[in-house]
Amino acid sequence: MSLRVNDLVVEIDGRRVVDGVSFEVPNGSRLGLIGESGSGKSLTALSLLGLLPEGATASGSIRWNDTELIGLPDRELARIRGDEIGMVFQEPRTALNPIRTVGRQIAESIRIHERIGRREARERAIAEATRVRLPDPETIIDRYPHQLSGGQRQRVAIAMALAARPRLLIADEPTTALDVTIQAEILDLLLTLVEEDGMSLVFITHDLAVLSQVAVDGVVLEHGRVVEAAPVSTLLRSPASEVTRGLLRDATATLWRPDGGTA
Ligand SMILES: Nc1ncnc2c1ncn2[C@@H]1O[C@H](COP(=O)(O)OP(=O)(O)O)[C@@H](O)[C@H]1O
Ligand SMILES: [Mg+2]
Repeated sequence: MSLRVNDLVVEIDGRRVVDGVSFEVPNGSRLGLIGESGSGKSLTALSLLGLLPEGATASGSIRWNDTELIGLPDRELARIRGDEIGMVFQEPRTALNPIRTVGRQIAESIRIHERIGRREARERAIAEATRVRLPDPETIIDRYPHQLSGGQRQRVAIAMALAARPRLLIADEPTTALDVTIQAEILDLLLTLVEEDGMSLVFITHDLAVLSQVAVDGVVLEHGRVVEAAPVSTLLRSPASEVTRGLLRDATATLWRPDGGTA
């Protein structure tokens, strides 16, 4: 299982917002896409899933194993999204339906790829809720999203993304909207689950400190272009580009606070 992105271009109204991006995600690897706000990270991620906004077009090549994703019919893309590639976004609210209990939503994610009856669906939802370390899973699955904290909602979104046991997880700033203590817990959870399932990971962040905790390799974007691609340890120790040096300066406070906390 591998993902190969080659010369990806995304245009919106004739503007190249992603401009010739290439990277590879071999089986079981963890890649970080990093860059300042507006550098094209999210549109790159959405291209991988065939979820670009109205008016945006992608060209180039995105190969998922032997399948070219660019130009693939919506129905087939939807199947790959449900079964093989999972995704988690910055704002869990967007992934959740406000008028359905979280247990039902987790069960629906399981049903996309598996036939299960009502009673089994409940048991499975509880198991998935337990796996993402939601407190008191048997009670919490009967709650609605607004009755949960932001961190709990993101755990539900992660449970839904991973219910089908995808081979690749794409996480776009999944902790950016959360309190710092919760951020660390969610990162730890994601890493644990990625390892348990032997998934590959594409992790998107603007924060080099966060990147250093989850990714092995990094691709730095600026204005939709790759400005540097290197192991994360190299980006931290000897950044080659001005962009990466800037990201490092912004991240320094969080990386080296003496109390081990994050700024
Ligand atoms: N729906 C959209 N319509 C027009 N421009 C967009 C849209 N989404 C993103 N853009 C533009 O594309 C560029 C890259 O956006 P994005 O991929 O969201 O950046 P990032 O995730 O790195 O912050 C930005 O300049 C942004 O303004
Ligand atoms: Mg973004």
